[in-house]
Amino acid sequence: MKATVTRAALSLIGRRDTPRPPDNAALLSALPIPVVLLDPENRFRFLNHAAEQFLGVSSAQAARLPITELLPADSPVFLMIEHVRRHEVTVADYDMTIEGPRMRKHGITVQATPLPEEPGAVLLAFQDASAARSLDRQLTFRSAARSVTGMAAILAHEVKNPLSGIRGAAQLLESSVSEADQELTVLIRDEADRIRALVERMEVFGDKPFDRGAVNIHRVLEHVRRLAQTGFAAAIPFHEAYDPSLPAVLGNRDQLVQVILNLVKNAAEAVIDGEVESPEITLITAYQHGMRLAMPGSTRRMELPLVVTVRDNGPGIPDDIRPNLFDPFVTSRASGSGLGLALVAKIISDHGGLIEVDSRPGRTEFRLHLPIFPDDPS
Ligand SMILES: Nc1ncnc2c1ncn2[C@@H]1O[C@H](COP(=O)(O)OP(=O)(O)O)[C@@H](O)[C@H]1O
Ligand SMILES: [Mg+2]
Repeated sequence: MKATVTRAALSLIGRRDTPRPPDNAALLSALPIPVVLLDPENRFRFLNHAAEQFLGVSSAQAARLPITELLPADSPVFLMIEHVRRHEVTVADYDMTIEGPRMRKHGITVQATPLPEEPGAVLLAFQDASAARSLDRQLTFRSAARSVTGMAAILAHEVKNPLSGIRGAAQLLESSVSEADQELTVLIRDEADRIRALVERMEVFGDKPFDRGAVNIHRVLEHVRRLAQTGFAAAIPFHEAYDPSLPAVLGNRDQLVQVILNLVKNAAEAVIDGEVESPEITLITAYQHGMRLAMPGSTRRMELPLVVTVRDNGPGIPDDIRPNLFDPFVTSRASGSGLGLALVAKIISDHGGLIEVDSRPGRTEFRLHLPIFPDDPS
């Protein structure tokens, strides 16, 4: 079906006297998806630019290497290739781990296709599913953030009032009960205070309107770094890799401070609790084209070219909490609230931005994709 449409379209193009299309190699090279052509002996016939980056080799190096130098002989990719050769069909495999001496990548979709005109040759295309999945995830964060918002409003309203009544009553009783029972009234008072503190922490999730303007993200990062280094991260070396030409973020400074502070605090806790030998936290800013996000319920797409990364060399995010990482009350720490990342997700979502997480032992990265402050604010 697809082929018919394409052929019909091509014949239309042909009739309109358009210039000759570029050759196949040029087309494939421009494709942002890694594509590799193997000959019947599994030697590289061709790699496009994206494949050079993906596999960590140049075309010149690849011409001298069999693919077994890049992927271990027992890699499931070879089973796919053999299947394609034997049955002359296209095979796609999702969520594969591609690893070799030069790389290790998870969640890759690999597509292997035979070339009818070249018996034994196989075309491989690799697609990183994590980008697509992170968009998916962000939408989940949005709904998580929304449920938190509603919950915060209800909690604040329904819990705080009776709570102050309970606390007041306990205080009144304190003066009239025996000394032994005073212990109990004090317990009631202290526990009421603890609930009140929790409710107040939840209130930051409330949907209050906030001002947005041009925020210099480097000032935000430096502010948080100073806070961290005079307090909870005093013993941890920081590294910065800032792109000084970065334009301003469209956002709210205080909220962005809260976001970065939470990420840096988690990073510090990860390296401290993980007893990392030479701990370090790295803050990175960069400009990256091509990240766009559809706004929910609209056809408008928002450009998110500013990337802010907080990286640590701690033990990584525990597997069991990964699927719910951004939900409220999800924590792996005995004294944790599990509200930090829920708040981060809410604020970034309010900013129209996106969060990506990449974590393995020794390297955890939270990447924020944020919009630019437009020159023409309309
Ligand atoms: N940089 C990190 N490295 C490892 N684990 C992390 C990191 N950041 C967050 N986490 C995990 O995510 C959990 C939730 O974080 P958060 O929402 O900030 O709550 P809290 O810090 O109160 O536990 C943490 O308990 C921890 O298990
Ligand atoms: Mg935290």
